[in-house]
Amino acid sequence: MLAYSFINLGIGVFSFFTILIPVALNGYIAENVVDAIKLRFLASILKRDGAFFDKPETSNAKLVSMMNSDVPQIKSGLDHRLVMFVNNVVALVVLLIEAGVFCWQMTVAGFSMCVFLVVIMFICMRYSHLRTNRVQAMTTHANLAVEIIENVRTIQLLNREEYFSTRYEASIHEVRTQYICAAVFESIVFSIGMSSCFLADAVSYSVGVPLLYAGKLKPGNVFVAAMAINVVSWALQFVGITGLELMRAEPACSAIIPLLDESIDNDGNSTTESEDDGVSPPINGSVVAERIEFAYPARPNIKVANGLTFEAPEGQMIALVGPSGGGKSTIIALLERFYPVQSGKLTVDGTPVSKFNLHHLRNHMALVGQEPVLFAGTIKDNILLGIEDGGFDDVQNACRLANATGFIEKLPLGYETEVGEKGAMLSGGQKQRIAIARAIARNPQILLLDEATSALDSESEKAVQEALNSASKSRTVISIAHRLSSIQDADHIYFIEGGRVVESGTHTELVGANGKYAGLVRKQRLNK
Ligand SMILES: Nc1ncnc2c1ncn2[C@@H]1O[C@H](COP(=O)(O)OP(=O)(O)OP(=O)(O)O)[C@@H](O)[C@H]1O
Ligand SMILES: [Mg+2]
Repeated sequence: MLAYSFINLGIGVFSFFTILIPVALNGYIAENVVDAIKLRFLASILKRDGAFFDKPETSNAKLVSMMNSDVPQIKSGLDHRLVMFVNNVVALVVLLIEAGVFCWQMTVAGFSMCVFLVVIMFICMRYSHLRTNRVQAMTTHANLAVEIIENVRTIQLLNREEYFSTRYEASIHEVRTQYICAAVFESIVFSIGMSSCFLADAVSYSVGVPLLYAGKLKPGNVFVAAMAINVVSWALQFVGITGLELMRAEPACSAIIPLLDESIDNDGNSTTESEDDGVSPPINGSVVAERIEFAYPARPNIKVANGLTFEAPEGQMIALVGPSGGGKSTIIALLERFYPVQSGKLTVDGTPVSKFNLHHLRNHMALVGQEPVLFAGTIKDNILLGIEDGGFDDVQNACRLANATGFIEKLPLGYETEVGEKGAMLSGGQKQRIAIARAIARNPQILLLDEATSALDSESEKAVQEALNSASKSRTVISIAHRLSSIQDADHIYFIEGGRVVESGTHTELVGANGKYAGLVRKQRLNK
């Protein structure tokens, strides 16, 4: 009996420390691990190419949901629940041995009961896990909420409030169905756990008491074995409950962990290169495309570049024009290496873009895109994003060149004005001028302008165009424009249709040739 007291004292002390220390540290450890996962996840995402974001399973909305909902879920598999699980498994094993020493018959009976219950609990947990897709339902639900809130104005203008409310209600219903289904299985596991102590007691006493009456066991042995089996069954409850919690973290882990390794894509193939890969020669800015073929990975059967050939000699401005969907922006995506060229050659200063160190290549380019992208912060912060070691002088200089100084200085806080989320507190034209200033501030060898002045009124466009013309002098410029007024003075114009160049020459030559470009000119009444 004294031995029994010592064993239980030992287990008590063991439990105290093995629970106290890890649980006391759980906030610290679990938070740190989750923060590290978040940082690694983001670092991995920032290195991905365009094809990665085109996949539905790693779309922008999915990634946001993974970062905001799934990563915190992983915490439930790391905090005090993990400690409780391990602790109770250890207690369960030790107490079973103890019970076995005092009465093996009661232990076999009690243990068999426990095993039977554990198997049922495990089957329920697996079944619950397989039959429910809570993470998927929750992700879809969260994505829809973000989409609705981001686009409230468009929804109001389209008078589709009811439609989106109905869709939202349906997604709530789907989430609820998944959770109710899971709750049924969980309640079975929980109930088995809660009743296991009584069942184990019943079984062990039904074996132990007849042995006692038959004089084959001492009362002390029956008492100790019964107590130990009772505690085993309580430990089993905790194992079941904490096991359930741990299983909740599993779907989140299986979604997030494969993405942490940035060198593996979602099909398990090796993708990205290290930061040091590739050559870093000085870049002068001569761009040549020779018979490029390209189809987006998401639509492999549709050729977007189909034998595309053009040249942008160092220091010259070339223009790409043509119908919508012809493949103009795709050329920029290939040059910036968001996608690899599938056949043909795309070179900068004679070196294929694929051979360059990616940072080095992108450091020598700047893009003003179709939709100017600004970040929450001040005007100054946004422009400084373009320059690594820039100061306020560089910001002012770039703004002057982009014809943005006038409107910025009229704002009460000037360069310190907050632009709002995605630049929401500025007009389209103001955003575009800040994006141009940011590009100019980078002092790139290759300036890429994709409809860079499309949001400006004709007065501002003229002024920004002049600024762009002067900023273009010492660099190669590839300019895409629907408004031909902005590219008439280009050294060479390529008319792109169906992924290939169908006409090329200067403005005067192309107008003289009276082809597709001339037709476009006539439409825009530009003929001088
Ligand atoms: N990420 C993508 N995945 C699949 N297809 C794409 C993707 N991006 C563009 N496309 C398709 O590639 C084609 C060329 O698109 P691109 O954006 O290059 O046209 P564009 O000439 O710039 O048109 P616009 O003048 O309207 O800007 C289009 O048919 C478009 O639908
Ligand atoms: Mg485009």
